[in-house]
Amino acid sequence: MDNFKLHASTEILFGKGQINQLPEVLSRYGKNVLLAYGSGSIKTFGIYDEVITLLNGFNITEFSDIEPNPHLSSVERGAQLCRDHQIDVILAVGGGSVIDCSKVVAAAAHYPGKAWDLVMDSNKITQALPLVTVLTMAGTGSEMNQWAVITNTENQMKKGTGNWPTMPKTSIVDPTYLYTLPQKQTAAGSADIFSHILENYFKKTPDAFVQDRIAEGILQTVIKYAPIAYKTPDDYSARANLAWASSLALNGLTGSGKGGSWSVHPIEHELSAYYDLTHGIGLAILTPSWMRHILNDQTVSKFTEYAINVWHLPNSVDPFKLANDGINATEYFFKSLGIPMTLHEVGIDTSKFDIMAQRSVELGKLDEAFVPLKVSDVLAILNACA
Ligand code: NZQ
Ligand code: ZN
Repeated sequence: MDNFKLHASTEILFGKGQINQLPEVLSRYGKNVLLAYGSGSIKTFGIYDEVITLLNGFNITEFSDIEPNPHLSSVERGAQLCRDHQIDVILAVGGGSVIDCSKVVAAAAHYPGKAWDLVMDSNKITQALPLVTVLTMAGTGSEMNQWAVITNTENQMKKGTGNWPTMPKTSIVDPTYLYTLPQKQTAAGSADIFSHILENYFKKTPDAFVQDRIAEGILQTVIKYAPIAYKTPDDYSARANLAWASSLALNGLTGSGKGGSWSVHPIEHELSAYYDLTHGIGLAILTPSWMRHILNDQTVSKFTEYAINVWHLPNSVDPFKLANDGINATEYFFKSLGIPMTLHEVGIDTSKFDIMAQRSVELGKLDEAFVPLKVSDVLAILNACA
């Protein structure tokens, strides 16, 4: 196991009715609140009214219309609002996009340079306004980590950043807020949780036994509860288990102590940078192709471990058969959640494969992945799911 530093310091207020603690939580930082949200689902489903009522007595500045796959221009708009209104604390109400945008707003608000600098170099994030979140979508884990992913539409670059100051101070995770998620977003969020775990499970570090057993537990949680939430959106147990799985999947619990780059996320970030694709959908499409591409004599034992421990498939004399059965089970699982399994079905043709492959290798440091990937490898993966 590698050395690591884990600082998962976010206070999680989990469960029904935890929103009532919001005034006390915000009052720790001041009266001037930037209320950040997306295109308005929080208004449609009543969370907005609940928050506004609770925030009686605070000075609220609204920062709305944060888009999925949030843009740099939104970050700049939010940072300007913070400066104009002497904001003390940012309250992000939404999914990963709203929370991610708010993190970089928090860091950019009093940064003398350009906000994009903070995305290109996370070491420049040395301070940030305090951030409190109310989660409405399980998937990214943004509610309990420092990471943020921002798209610069001028150069079509989607890139992750984050540092300890951008870790949310408190996140309110009420599973009932997830009841209104459309089936597509429930599926996408579940695929995202699944992928976060896989990215760390398939790493070179040999002896991270405890991380991998936790990882297998989270994968089984998603396998059990995603279909229930998909069919019965207001099933509290399903939403609660997926929400907590979301936070645990990317708060350092399973990734700490395991070095190396991720594999599928850097490729997906190119898809959503160029085509504004829903993140989890892109991950689900790419994952089986990536798995088949990297299956070889060196990796087969990790795949058989995955097939047996996660999918409970019977051991087989042919390890490659077992490995492929595990990969097929993964693909079938995503399909059962209504996710298309080809890029063509989500409107992506082959015309930008070259540039997307080049950028993912470069930005994602794919030469340091579980199985190092060159541009030609990424092209093969993309073509296999075209
Ligand atoms: O715009 P609003 O009104 O918020 O509607 C959203 C949006 O249309 C809607 N939604 C959210 N909660 C809802 C709801 N609709 C009905 N009921 C609810 N309760 O769902 C749509 C998608 O929301 P979004 O926030 O974009 O989804 P998600 O949470 O998947 O976030 C995706 C972004 O996070 C990044 C992705 O790249 C993408 O930009 N990621 C962030 C990570 C992190 N911070 O650690 C890691 C991830 O790997 C990922 O890259
Ligand atoms: Zn993700």
